[in-house]
This record gives sequence, structure tokens and C-alpha cells, in this order.
Amino acid sequence: MAYYCYMLKCKNGNYYTGWSKDPFRRLKQHNAGRGARYTRMNAPCELVYAEEVPDLSAALKLESKIKTLKPAQKKSLISNPERNQLPKITALSKARSKKPKHFTVLSPGRVNLLGEHIDYNDGIVLPMAIDRKVTLQVKTLKEPVLRLNALDMDEKVELSLEDLDSKTDLNQQPLPPFALYPAGVAWALKAAGLPVSGLEVSYSSDIPMGAGLSSSAAVELGFALAWQIAAGWEIERMEMALLCKQAENDYVGLKSGLMDQFSVAHGVAGHALALDTRSLDWQTLRLPPDTSVVIADSAQRRKLTESGYNKRKQECSDALQILRSWCSDLASWRDVDPSFLEAHLAEMPTDIGKRAQHVVGEIQRVQQGCKCLEAGDAQGFGELMFASHSSLKELYEVSSFELDSLVEVAASLPGCLGARLTGAGFGGCTVNLVQKEFAPEFIEQLSNQYTKKTGLIASVFECFASDGARLLND
Ligand code: GLA
Repeated sequence: MAYYCYMLKCKNGNYYTGWSKDPFRRLKQHNAGRGARYTRMNAPCELVYAEEVPDLSAALKLESKIKTLKPAQKKSLISNPERNQLPKITALSKARSKKPKHFTVLSPGRVNLLGEHIDYNDGIVLPMAIDRKVTLQVKTLKEPVLRLNALDMDEKVELSLEDLDSKTDLNQQPLPPFALYPAGVAWALKAAGLPVSGLEVSYSSDIPMGAGLSSSAAVELGFALAWQIAAGWEIERMEMALLCKQAENDYVGLKSGLMDQFSVAHGVAGHALALDTRSLDWQTLRLPPDTSVVIADSAQRRKLTESGYNKRKQECSDALQILRSWCSDLASWRDVDPSFLEAHLAEMPTDIGKRAQHVVGEIQRVQQGCKCLEAGDAQGFGELMFASHSSLKELYEVSSFELDSLVEVAASLPGCLGARLTGAGFGGCTVNLVQKEFAPEFIEQLSNQYTKKTGLIASVFECFASDGARLLND
């Protein structure tokens, strides 16, 4: 997507200069008081200039240059058709905002590199969107129904968008589990006052299902984006992720954190994403040079809603409650000092104390992990991955024989820098950081030796950091 340097004419007649990937959306933010102090004081503003530049650095340079111009020079720039591309991009945007009747949405899975089970404990997490995705072919309908055609499962269901609370289909039968995710998204969007129109969606996925790679969040975000496109409203990606999380928490019933929906919504090709789940600030970080990210699917499955996920979440909340009885100032897990926890460990119920040790240790590991990525220290990052796995195995107790086998085998192979279970655990996948030149041999050896050890056939593949959910050809 291109970058634009834009000018707004404010109510007081002065010009405000800024940059954005989408000047129209930015204008809406300024006029809603969410842009800059100056435009808030001088709203409403009108978009009068937009010039396309190739990248962020060019946008920043042009922005500073325009800011130094006198008002007459700004006016002449605005009337210069070779520089001011506003008419062209207005036409393009109108064409885009014509609600299409048929379109395709791509929505990726994610792999979490570091920071497990801390997105519901105010920690920082380090996931990336991957090049495995759900593809949704969408057709808009006049009637308020959702027709789902889950191609991989060869299952179809039709439900009313006006009766989402009942969780039943048009024949009053309970919705099958796969339909709860799209229905939940419609339910959350409607509750937020965003209209959802009738859709017929045929979708399929190459993300292994129930394997810890966020196949559910990919479906959720894919549908949210489909409704945004079909209905013509637009919300911030973070808001979209939060609404999808609400669908999963309150409609489907899994009390997940924000990591999965965030990653699917915000993925940036070639980058990991560091999300601070307390402040919701996030940044991109480059993956270590000359390394490959390899995913190994253990072929062992567990349904999350039936697993210990919600139980772990409850244990963490109990643990924080207990810690607060000794120190009432603890606003969040981020305030728990490891030495304070250590000093009180013997007084806590064993399981609860173990969960607390994992959370506090993992929060620290991610902080170190971000520094490793900033410094391009693949070795250091890999060690943190191994430490994270041990903690998930011994303290958080969400690993399995299969996942441990994958990590053990990986650790013994040449070129392996780090390996750990990824996602909620209780089955699913491991993520491995491998020196690039060793990746093909690593993949072969890991899958062979895993089969020897467990009798199961793992699917082992390299993956690449990709962009988030998007309209095909956007
Ligand atoms: C699942 C949840 C996430 C997160 C991970 C564990 O993927 O959906 O919110 O809690 O487990 O880190």
C-alpha cells in the first residue's frame, strides 16, 4: 500500500500537514477529534491535498518540507495537478467503496514465537501472521441470512442474522461448532452497532485446524472483514480484533486473550509483532537474519474449549489475587517482581504457585526476546524459546508427550537454535528457529525421528511472516 502526504484545510483557514496510508480514513479521525490537537481545536477540516510517495521515509521527508512552506506556496501546491493527486485517489476510493457483490478475503493463521499464556495476563507477546490462510469467497445477499459452506468439512448451514442469540440454524437445530465463529462475529459486530448484511460464504483453509495456529481467529477476522466490505463501514484493525475476541470469549465460550485476533488483523510480511497486551501498543520487529521459522504439527489434537485453557486462566487470576493479599499495590502481573514471588512461593498452593512462576518468567523472557530481535541475536532468542518450553511443560503443565518429543528431537538436530510448543498447548504444534542453511535437513530429520519415537506422522514445514487479513487484489 502506498503512503500519502496530505494537507487539510482547517476551520480557521490554516493548513495542517500529515502523512497516512489512507488520507480519507485519517480525515475522519481528525474530524472525530482523534487526529491531532491542532485539528481537534480547528475542526471540521477538509482534505485538500494528497501526494503519493513510495515509502514512510519519503512521506516523513515531504511532510517536513511542506510544513516549512508559506501559505501561498501551499496554495500553489494544492492547485498543481501534477503534485496533488487528490482527484485521482478520490475516484479510486469511491470505486473501492462501491459495495462489491462478490469478493474474496484472505485471512492468515499465526504462530507465536515467544510469550505463551501471558496475553490474558498483561504480558507482551511475540507472534507473527503466517503464509497459511483461510480463503473466503463471499457473495452478498439481500435477505438477512448467513449461508455457510465450509468446503474442507463439506458442511453447510444457514442461519438468521436476526436471531443470533438462539445459536440455532434456520431449522431451529443447534449450530454446529464451526458455525459458532462466524455467527459470533456477526453477534459482536451487531452489539457494537455495526450493521451486518446477508452473506453467502464458501471458505476453505490450509491452516491445520485445532493445532495452535489460530485457524479460528483467521475465520473470525475473515468474516469481520467480509462484513466490513459488504456493509461499507470501516473500523480500526485493533477494534476489529477486539470484537472478534469478544465473539470467541462470549459467544463461542473460550476465554482467550487478544494475541490471535491481533496477529491475524495486524500481520506485517517479514516481521514479528510485539504486542503489549496491557497498553495495546505494538511494534514490528525483524526476524533474526539467516534463520528459518519451522512449524511442526504433532498430529495430536485437543479441543480448546474442552481443555484446561479456561482452567489455567482461572488459576492465574487466583494466583494474582493471592499475591495481592501480600501486596495490595499489584495492579497487574507486570508489577510482580520475581524475588517477591519467590519469597511467597511456599505459602501458595503448589499448582497456583507454578502457574505464577511461569507467568512471571515468561513476561521476563519476552522482554529479553525483544532485545534479542532488535540486536539480531538469533542464538539468544533460541535459548529463550527452549526455556519457554520447559516452563510450559513443568510449571504451566500444558505440554504433552508428543510436543516434548518434537522439542527434544529438534534440540538434537544441527542448526536448531530454539524450539517450543506454540499456542495454547495440550497438543498441536511446535515452533522452531533454525539456521537457514540447515532448514531442509532439519525438516526431514525432525519428521523422521518423531515418527520413530511416537508412531505419529508430523507435518513439518517452513513458514514465512505474512500480512494480515485482506481483500484479495487490494
Ligand atoms: C490460545 C489463545 C491465545 C493465547 C494462547 C496461549 O491461542 O487464543 O489468546 O492465550 O492460546 O498463549
